[in-house]
Amino acid sequence: MTQTPVPEKGAKLYEGKAKILYETSDPDLVIQYFKDDATAFNAQKKGTIVEKGIVNNRIATVLFQLLEENGVKTHFVRKLSDREMLCHKLTIVPIEVVVRNIVAGSLSKRMGLPEGEVLPRPILEFYYKRDDLDDPPINDDHALVFNLATAEELAHIRREAFRVNELLIKFLDPRGIRLVDFKLEFGRGTGKNAGQLLLGDEITPDGCRFWDKATNEKLDKDRFRRDLGKIEESYHEVERRICEA
Ligand code: C5P
Repeated sequence: MTQTPVPEKGAKLYEGKAKILYETSDPDLVIQYFKDDATAFNAQKKGTIVEKGIVNNRIATVLFQLLEENGVKTHFVRKLSDREMLCHKLTIVPIEVVVRNIVAGSLSKRMGLPEGEVLPRPILEFYYKRDDLDDPPINDDHALVFNLATAEELAHIRREAFRVNELLIKFLDPRGIRLVDFKLEFGRGTGKNAGQLLLGDEITPDGCRFWDKATNEKLDKDRFRRDLGKIEESYHEVERRICEA
């Protein structure tokens, strides 16, 4: 198989809370750089998780490869270095897509239910990706009426999000990880991917709730959000189970 040649790194396109995107000499490819910065509660809480960028790049690489091998189209091209991943360029659909298998976080608050209750079937939620509005929850009608996505795109997102959920559960369960919930972002491709929606962003303990299967110990960003300690240890433990097993 021929590998995509590595294009030259160009100017910074965008800097987010946990990642930086760089242009490259190929207009259809970008470099996603993983930082150690951690934020929570819409950046009201800020900190650093030592080596998080390196760990998250490794975890996201394995999980994107798993999804690609199973026919999910993602922006992942290949890992370039400790903290860099080559990706297809996307125009991100401004919807944060959350899939939940177990009650936790904002669902626990919203429904007045204890964390840990297993849902009879997975739930899909949409949030409007707008930091200045604290990412409010929206439904399909909001997405359509405000032109955030087309009906075809929403159908694709729904189908792919549940498929990703099934693939991740199947992969994580034998590695002793319960997939409680996670957030996905999708984007419209350019060049040869024009007209297609690809899965973008990252799949890491920053945007997923991972609990130890035996003890329900939290192994994700909730350790940072809730000051639970052992943050780096937990990220490394997830990396060990996902990347070495
Ligand atoms: O906070 P909440 O319970 O709604 O989060 C659901 C899931 O989505 C969690 O796994 C969380 O890490 C992720 N999430 C995220 N980015 C956001 C909001 C939620 O990665 N802005």
